[in-house]
Amino acid sequence: MNVAVLASGTGTNLQALLDRVHGRDGVEIVAVASDKPDAPALDRARRAGVATASFLAADYPRRPARDRAMADWLIGGGVELVVLAGYMQLLSAEFLERFPDRVINVHPALLPAFPGLRPVDDALAYGVKVFGVTVHFVDGGVDSGPVILQRAVELPDARDPASVLDRLHPIEHELLPEAVRLLARGAVSFDPANRRRVVIER
Ligand code: GRF
Repeated sequence: MNVAVLASGTGTNLQALLDRVHGRDGVEIVAVASDKPDAPALDRARRAGVATASFLAADYPRRPARDRAMADWLIGGGVELVVLAGYMQLLSAEFLERFPDRVINVHPALLPAFPGLRPVDDALAYGVKVFGVTVHFVDGGVDSGPVILQRAVELPDARDPASVLDRLHPIEHELLPEAVRLLARGAVSFDPANRRRVVIER
């Protein structure tokens, strides 16, 4: 399965995909795109010999036009699955229609709790004792698509977002490659009676 990764930042999740699934288990990472031309994620891709491109808001006054250009580039590269790994932009409906049930995201919270841009801060402010990571399909909403994988971690004394993220990152780095591996194996489907429910064949 040809996989593209969209990333805006550091790209540690991209690195986990490059290290753990790229070139095996039927997975090839063939493209990495960003909305930030200086994203360290792009350097990680180049070091791995993966094609990169940037699609900047400044070059496309309207997001649908930018997403169209990005989708054209990805489809031209034979991409079958799009993985959002710290991609800080919403995708247009048209982009999602071009990759039906083929866009996934990793989020550092146990969805549906704490969607959005500051999930760990929001969870700490709420006072939760259990944190976690979700890998989910992307739909038209914000972190609202069907859940593929989740893992929780109890941190009853957590106070500081950075230390929570330090605990969550290694979980993300396991869960996201695992989800890609399962999708490549054709082991992920939807319960026909309730398409919110993702069924994993282990
Ligand atoms: C991760 O915490 C991911 O859950 C969120 O953005 C962050 C990206 O981190 N969506 P990195 O760039 O992969 O290090």
